[in-house]
Amino acid sequence: MSQHPDPTTDIIGLGKRYWLPVYRPRDVVLDHGKGARVWDTEGRDYVDLGAGIAVNALGHQDEDLVSALVTQAGKLWHSSNVFYTEPPLRLAQELVQASGFAERVFLCNSGAEANEAAIKLVRKWAASEGRPADKRVIITFRGSFHGRTLATVTATAQPKYQEGYEPLPAGFRYLDFNDEAALAEAFAPGDVAAVMLEPVQGEGGVLPAAPGFLKKVRELCDAHGALVVLDEIQCGMGRTGTLFAHVQDGITPDIVTLAKALGAGFPIGAMLAGPKVAAVMQFGAHGTTFGGNPMAAAVARVALAKLSSAAVLLNVERQANDLRTVLARLNQELNIFEEVRGRGLMIGAVLASPWKGKAGEILDACAAHGLLLLQAGPDVLRFVPPLTITDAELAEGMERLGAALHEITASANDASGQAHAKAS
Ligand SMILES: Cc1ncc(COP(=O)(O)O)c(C=O)c1O
Repeated sequence: MSQHPDPTTDIIGLGKRYWLPVYRPRDVVLDHGKGARVWDTEGRDYVDLGAGIAVNALGHQDEDLVSALVTQAGKLWHSSNVFYTEPPLRLAQELVQASGFAERVFLCNSGAEANEAAIKLVRKWAASEGRPADKRVIITFRGSFHGRTLATVTATAQPKYQEGYEPLPAGFRYLDFNDEAALAEAFAPGDVAAVMLEPVQGEGGVLPAAPGFLKKVRELCDAHGALVVLDEIQCGMGRTGTLFAHVQDGITPDIVTLAKALGAGFPIGAMLAGPKVAAVMQFGAHGTTFGGNPMAAAVARVALAKLSSAAVLLNVERQANDLRTVLARLNQELNIFEEVRGRGLMIGAVLASPWKGKAGEILDACAAHGLLLLQAGPDVLRFVPPLTITDAELAEGMERLGAALHEITASANDASGQAHAKAS
């Protein structure tokens, strides 16, 4: 008689057999969610402090999002941009109004696409200014992450994402993040068209721009006729406590890209263009079949309204304080972090020695204790929970984190105790 695997093992087997093996998910199959909690196919529950990589900013199954999606699904799914539909146009208007700087919006389906559009817009703008191709350089920063298309992975100044994909497009210059002197020097050749950066680097380790760094970027770009492009795909949409992260830095950008929480779990991206660049791309210059899909836009309108609300933004501040308080207490007990950094509900706990490089192991222990957490590189635990997380959900999540960290540190102490005993 043949043995049938249980449904969970069966589903995991499909992933291992049929997916291009570019991902390495944990052996858990998530089934449904509510608020900041998800359940797997075995009925186990998890507190979700990763929110689908900073996407599910309103948690799971937000009733207003579900209702917007269902209503639009009952009317019209798709028309592409050869006809007008209402949701993407209203969304564009609302994004312009909320931004305070943008005049026009390009809607797309993901973060990489929003950044690809931004890179193309910078180049088109430079061309419209009469600058030759070799004077359209875009400065980006080490540790950044801007996407996986060929241009955005080139903008992403991290070799690990680029290796093997050469030849990469020309026209990018990489600098150390937060190095004002290097930035000033990098303009010397007179070929810079834009500086592109995340106000808080996400994948690169949850590293905020230093106070005053964005102002310096703006100042130098103004002095040298270059654009400021802000990638707020991870740090935008309320995550840092204001709808746009850069508001806290007191600058006005020329281009801002959004995705992730813009659709709160439904795929959508946006590029917001300020007055210098809003009219540069004309008919036929760019486009996408699905961009501004009515269902995605209907959901994003609700997400934008809710994530702009004082209630959500105040919750970010409050829960961020609570989360940091617990991390500080855990660190007093276990001495496991060398630094806790970030802004709002985008928090990175940098592992101290001997835990460096072991973020993955810690996340496994967290999952076993009913907690979904992310890493940002091998050394940083990344906390990006739903912005609507409740006191009770956060408290429970942090309790599970504590249990996981106590267990993993205790077993490491046991192992080193045994090694000592053997050696003596
Ligand atoms: C700051 C930033 N930019 C761009 C991207 C790429 O977005 P997507 O994965 O939707 O293409 C990401 C994704 O993690 C990101 O964090």
